[in-house]
Amino acid sequence: MSVKIGVIGAGGMLQYHHAGFVQGGGEVVAVADLAPGAAAAASEKYGITEAYESVEEMLEKSEIDAVSIIVPNKFHAPLAIQCLNAGKHVFCEKPPALSASQVEAMIVASESANKRLMFNFNNRARPESREMMAAISSGTVGEINSAQAKWIRRTGIPGFGGWFTTKALSGGGPVIDLLHMIDLAMYFMGYPDPTNVLATTYNTFMGDSGFKGPWGIPDNADGVTDVEAAAHGFVTFANGQALSLQVSWAEMIKREEVSVVFQGTKAGGKVERLFGSDGLDETAIDTCELYVQENGQSVNRTVVVEECEDMGRIHSAANFVEAIEGVSEPLNTPQQALKLMRIIDAVYESAQTGKAITL
Ligand SMILES: NC(=O)c1ccc[n+]([C@@H]2O[C@H](COP(=O)([O-])OP(=O)(O)OC[C@H]3O[C@@H](n4cnc5c(N)ncnc54)[C@H](O)[C@@H]3O)[C@@H](O)[C@H]2O)c1
Repeated sequence: MSVKIGVIGAGGMLQYHHAGFVQGGGEVVAVADLAPGAAAAASEKYGITEAYESVEEMLEKSEIDAVSIIVPNKFHAPLAIQCLNAGKHVFCEKPPALSASQVEAMIVASESANKRLMFNFNNRARPESREMMAAISSGTVGEINSAQAKWIRRTGIPGFGGWFTTKALSGGGPVIDLLHMIDLAMYFMGYPDPTNVLATTYNTFMGDSGFKGPWGIPDNADGVTDVEAAAHGFVTFANGQALSLQVSWAEMIKREEVSVVFQGTKAGGKVERLFGSDGLDETAIDTCELYVQENGQSVNRTVVVEECEDMGRIHSAANFVEAIEGVSEPLNTPQQALKLMRIIDAVYESAQTGKAITL
């Protein structure tokens, strides 16, 4: 019997979740969206049998094993807890929630229901990330001392006054929206325990339409825009590792850059996506590189990997179904999501207080 899935949210990300669940051997049987007509339109587009305008109704009527949550960030924790309490496995879009305390409540619900709770950290599933993780696991890299995580955009604010730019709905700006590279760096580092976080945030250019990205959601003139445009920070870990981070939607840089660079005791490395000048996935160049010393020489190795326009989103959704089936190890754990959100909370607290935060 294949895993039967209901999705909540029929927006832009549904296409990847649907393709991934099908690739993993699951069946998407229901879709729920509060916006009138949105679930019906998605049901027709993807051939999903059941469409609902209420999550309660979907949970009551549909015979599903699992739920995928693809809605604005504020609703991740309450919906995940509701679905776990209804006895469903949950795959939740990033960020895990608005805060670490919400993730703690999600973990309690997952443990008492004895159901899986996974998150869409899809950048771990990119071919170059999987290749890099294989090199790390095989011992090629040794111990990672330090890493730098970056997702920086020059003109990439996803609209004004919509849910992305309203802190009460999103939890924050690029720190929370572009947390992928912080997660990926931590994943490569072995998800160590953070001890100190020092960070600053900037809201320069928020409100300037010249800094809007080619994606996002429509502006809402009556909406609120109260999140940061950029952040810089430094995290230290109990085992001596260190991570610096830079994230932005709007910052004076040459071009968008999405990368994790690290320095290990046997090799350094870099995983990077450089978007094309049009800022789109189709024209991006992905790289996976290792830096070693061999026979007294500095050698740079480029690992050639398959192209993957979708940044691992399909593979990541497939992994959720395979983890439920017990045929693949889950690509992420709730405890990792909790550590990540503790760092995000501390970035905001440090920026607000001007002090280093000890965790
Ligand atoms: N992993 C990635 O690469 C990636 C990329 C983009 C967005 N995301 C995440 O995906 C999530 C959704 O983003 P999106 O771009 O698809 O948003 P979107 O605004 O395009 O779609 C969200 C949909 O959810 C519906 N909705 C809102 N609240 C709801 C609720 N309480 N119950 C049911 N339906 C509800 C809306 O009507 C809308 O159709 C966000 O958490 C975002 O951070 C992840």
